Amino acid sequence: MNYRSMILVLAVMATMVFMPLATSCSHDKPQYVIGVSQCSEDIWRDKQNAELRLGAYFHDNVELRFAVAYDSDERQVQQIDSLVATGIHLLIVAPNQVSTISPAIDRAFDKGIPVIVFERKTNSHKYTAYIGADNYEMGQIMGDYVADRMGGKGTVMEVMGLKGSSPAIERHKGFVDALKAHPGIHLLATLQGDWTEESAYQAVKAYDGDLSTVDFVFGQNDRMAMGVRRALIEQRGEQAPLPMFCGIDGLAGKDGGIQLVRDSILDATYIYPTRGDQLLQLAVDILDGKPYEKEVQLMSALVTRDNANVLLMENEEIVRQSAYIDQLHNMANGYLKKLSNQRLLTLFAIGIVALLLVVLVIIYMYHLQRAKIAQEREQMAHAQLDFYTQVSHQLRTPLTLIEGPLDRLADTPDMRQASDETVQMLGIVRRNTAQLSGLVNQILDAQTGTNLKDLSQDEFDAITVGDTAQPNATADSSSEATAGTVPAGNGEQPRLLIVDDNADIRTYLRTILQGQYQVSEAPDGQKGLEVACEEVPDLIVSDVMMPVMNGLEFCQRVKNDTITSHIPVILLTARALSKHQIEGYESGADAYITKPFSADLLLARISNLLRSRHKLKDIWGNGFSPKEPAAIIEEPALPDSTDTQEVVAKPTPSELRDNEFIARFKKVVDDRLADSDLSVEDIASDMHLSRVQLYRKVKALTGATPVELLRKARLTRGRQLLETTSKNISEVAYEVGFSAPSYFTKCYKDEFGTLPGEGR
Ligand code: FRU
Repeated sequence: MNYRSMILVLAVMATMVFMPLATSCSHDKPQYVIGVSQCSEDIWRDKQNAELRLGAYFHDNVELRFAVAYDSDERQVQQIDSLVATGIHLLIVAPNQVSTISPAIDRAFDKGIPVIVFERKTNSHKYTAYIGADNYEMGQIMGDYVADRMGGKGTVMEVMGLKGSSPAIERHKGFVDALKAHPGIHLLATLQGDWTEESAYQAVKAYDGDLSTVDFVFGQNDRMAMGVRRALIEQRGEQAPLPMFCGIDGLAGKDGGIQLVRDSILDATYIYPTRGDQLLQLAVDILDGKPYEKEVQLMSALVTRDNANVLLMENEEIVRQSAYIDQLHNMANGYLKKLSNQRLLTLFAIGIVALLLVVLVIIYMYHLQRAKIAQEREQMAHAQLDFYTQVSHQLRTPLTLIEGPLDRLADTPDMRQASDETVQMLGIVRRNTAQLSGLVNQILDAQTGTNLKDLSQDEFDAITVGDTAQPNATADSSSEATAGTVPAGNGEQPRLLIVDDNADIRTYLRTILQGQYQVSEAPDGQKGLEVACEEVPDLIVSDVMMPVMNGLEFCQRVKNDTITSHIPVILLTARALSKHQIEGYESGADAYITKPFSADLLLARISNLLRSRHKLKDIWGNGFSPKEPAAIIEEPALPDSTDTQEVVAKPTPSELRDNEFIARFKKVVDDRLADSDLSVEDIASDMHLSRVQLYRKVKALTGATPVELLRKARLTRGRQLLETTSKNISEVAYEVGFSAPSYFTKCYKDEFGTLPGEGR
């Protein structure tokens, strides 16, 4: 994984971790945005807005956006358009006038935004629902009340609300219609106000007629009734009697209509319901797609001195409960806020932990990758080194075949008489060959050094033991070589077998060895094995890398075959590494010589190995016991052994084979000792060997011929019989297979230096 993909993974993980945080925050976002367009700002509207807010508490997905037009048509139109532009989902509107606001409402409706018209009406049918009280009925009830209060006789004055607003029109119509049923009531004047107290006050002031006869004043709302009252007090003085007053709205708070009635300032009022909560519920129902009524009529009631007190008390209770709800809401809000903060904090902590984990995983993966790269590099370096080693090994054979013959060439009589130039040239060639050989060795030394570093302690010890266990590898053997002449036995030259697939090497070796040894050749291990079995040579020099059967397997099989197990094997190879040498010794090789090699070293090694044969000297004496091979094999103890007990080296396979062979030989001879006709051929055939095989094997192992050993066996038994029985010489001679007692006596003297029976 590279850095780019790591950063990508990090980014993806971070998104996965922090996405829930982001979405958890967005839960607070309301689904419904409701725009509220109020035509005026006064205590009636304040109450209604408060109720709307309270209603919204019960819907946590609602956001209210308020706009107040302050009785201006133009402003309200503008505000409605702005609300629509902000993306509201529903519009609640109390239009200032019947016709002026309709276009803005129509635009919103046409955009698919549901519209609730409340309390005041428009002249358009483009609205989703209307909610409000019946203003005509209100005017009518107030007309009847006034007439009733005056006993059906008297003068009345009316102050109307904003011209063109639907409640003003409807209330007036209801009032006038009611008075028609009371002919004793005279409507003196209808003044024009705009729903504010000040407008009524000014209207009275501006009135040029006589108002002194007015018995009852009907203000279309309480505020305007109070405005007329203020103007009349001003005109008539504080103490002058005043007419009765009535209005509409019936608000419950301080200076509200109900309190004014209770305090006899107003004679009556009519509750004009605000019902903001009901209004909001209707809006949510529409947005939720629930069924709703298109025209909702709000119930209302007349307030007189009879019920004002009760209503005030009830209202106080409502106000108290509303405040309580408000408080609860604020507390709940506080808790929710805390909860949401805690949730945010928890999620953030989880996010950080997850991110840390991701970072840790990435660091871990990064290290894994680095380790992999390092491993790959190491493998590559090894492969490179192996390649160089291989090449160096390949160079060794031709180098041997250049160096060796060159050395020999330099020693020939022809060369001694050669011209100076020829000698000089030969010198150049020899020096450069030596230099090349040195370079190849350096490469292999470098490889060996590297490998030694890689080796385990056991492997290292094995090399050390191997080196010390193989005697006379260098200087010592050289000195022996110069001194050494090969034991010729019965005058015959020892037989050597050369096994190598390279014909030049075989030829070169033959050239080196020919003077002192009889040489046979084989081109691979398989053929070598056949020749070895047939000829039973005294020593084998074999290459390692060969087709058909390699030198290691060949050596192993030589050492495991009873006929050939005694034959020393020298592995001659270009494979110079310690591990290769260890492999060689493990296959049973007696020496390991690397190419390019010195001819003298090879000769010394061969001579040395041949000299150290004949370990089994006295096979008829007490020295030989096939079951105790360690007693006759000179095996060096392992130098690193920590065992305090005596070390008994395990016999090698070849030693086991040799012991086995001698034991069989002894048994055949012992069993047939009395047979004077017993010949070497008989023994060989009993042992399933050829005469030559038996001869060479026995000679190689004991230094004596089978005939000599047979004679020695007969004589040894004869001496035993003479010493332990009363048999005479002739009897003994026949018993141990001699046909003539005189010949027994001669041989006995030759063997033991005494005559038979001497010292009996
Ligand atoms: C409040 C108000 C009330 C009146 C109503 C008529 O703004 O003026 O006093 O009853 O509007 O729409």
